[in-house]
Amino acid sequence: MEQYVINGGTPLVGEVEIGGAKNAALPILAASIMTDETVHIDNVPDVRDVNVLLTAMSHIGSLIKHDGRHRVTMNSSNIRNMVVEDENIKKIRASYYLIGAMLGKYKHAEVTLPGGCDIGCRAIDQHIKGFRALGAEVSLSHGMIRTRAEKLVGSHIYMDVVSVGATINIMMAASMAEGKTIIENAAKEPHVVDVANFLNSCGANIKGAGTDVIRIKGVSVLHGTDYTIIPDQIEAGTYMFAAAVTKGDVTVKNVIPKHLESISAKLMEIGCEVKEEDDCVRVVCSGPLKHSHVKTLPYPGFPTDMQPQITVALGLSGGTSIVTESIFENRFKYVDELTRMGANIKVEGNTAIIDGVHKYTGAGISAPDLRAGAALVLAALAAEGESHLDNIAYIQRGYEDFHIKLAGLGAQIKIVEGEQDYSKFKLMTG
Ligand code: UD1
Repeated sequence: MEQYVINGGTPLVGEVEIGGAKNAALPILAASIMTDETVHIDNVPDVRDVNVLLTAMSHIGSLIKHDGRHRVTMNSSNIRNMVVEDENIKKIRASYYLIGAMLGKYKHAEVTLPGGCDIGCRAIDQHIKGFRALGAEVSLSHGMIRTRAEKLVGSHIYMDVVSVGATINIMMAASMAEGKTIIENAAKEPHVVDVANFLNSCGANIKGAGTDVIRIKGVSVLHGTDYTIIPDQIEAGTYMFAAAVTKGDVTVKNVIPKHLESISAKLMEIGCEVKEEDDCVRVVCSGPLKHSHVKTLPYPGFPTDMQPQITVALGLSGGTSIVTESIFENRFKYVDELTRMGANIKVEGNTAIIDGVHKYTGAGISAPDLRAGAALVLAALAAEGESHLDNIAYIQRGYEDFHIKLAGLGAQIKIVEGEQDYSKFKLMTG
């Protein structure tokens, strides 16, 4: 089985190009089936979750062509099959975006229930509440969600929890419903705005995305478009924290600094220098890291998808830090692995109490999920000595060329599968 071998202790220095946002690409690609015309999408990240979704879409009849690595052309005028049962689709969370997209366009969808990272109970009751409010019948059985409507009619929907997925799903379905829909207590994440912008570029009428009230006037037809996905806030944030933990100097390029504000603010608070320019952010860390308190919150708060990365950094800071996870209840599973590297962290419920240590040491570790996997790579890059990280498929779900981009910054990291690869790594690292 493939694993990352990492020889830590080298400060990361240089520039890294950030790709398109996975969590925007997934709903935008799914929403592309809502028009019979051809859609061109640029800045699509080449990561596993995206490729699984594209394969499932091709199985129900979308014609998908890659023009280069990051541009996808899609025509979905020939979709006849409303049942998405692709073997891999249940492994990704974003499978549920096909429900909103197909329900909006065809008033019928049957999709294998979503999986994704095991980071806590991931209910879909708000999605279902929204579909029902629009007039759809929804049932769950045999691992499938089935939904159908004679017609969808706009409605006033109050979300009981702030949910990125439910906001996007309801917005997609409502954009082809009859009349007006208002979504209250909507998620405000940049990718919610990106999906709204994409749908509007196809002729939808969505206003207020990025605030907590989204107003949608349904339209009967959507047309083709040429659209570019926003940069990935979490990929960028991960490299920014890689600079912090390795005492490096990294410039993340092709980003929207506004989307990174909560991340930049915390990095400055813990002792890093952060310089923003139009479309890049430079993080320099030359002194010791300082302790801090962090609570994950919906945007514009500190993202839950950056919680493991900041915990890794605080584990190396002077003093005691507290990290509170308020979005997903089971998101500290990586702490056991970090403890094997010398961290001093105690988890109580949704809170981690971190007593900073002077250094981590390399160990054999395993990625429990996507973002925690990336965070463990950061820990290994900061650590003294060699680490071996298993289960890297999790990381490949959401980071394109992670080890290649890190190596470009001077990291000693390689994917190895067997003795021969490992010998090459040893030769490379001396
Ligand atoms: C998306 C992202 C994920 C990110 C998360 C929060 C994708 C594919 N995944 O996940 O990377 O960590 O947003 O920014 O884009 N909830 C309910 N009922 C629902 C829906 C959600 O109770 O119907 C709860 C969840 O259990 C969780 C919270 O709401 O506690 C937020 O979940 P949500 O924003 O929906 O996350 P996802 O869309 O699953």
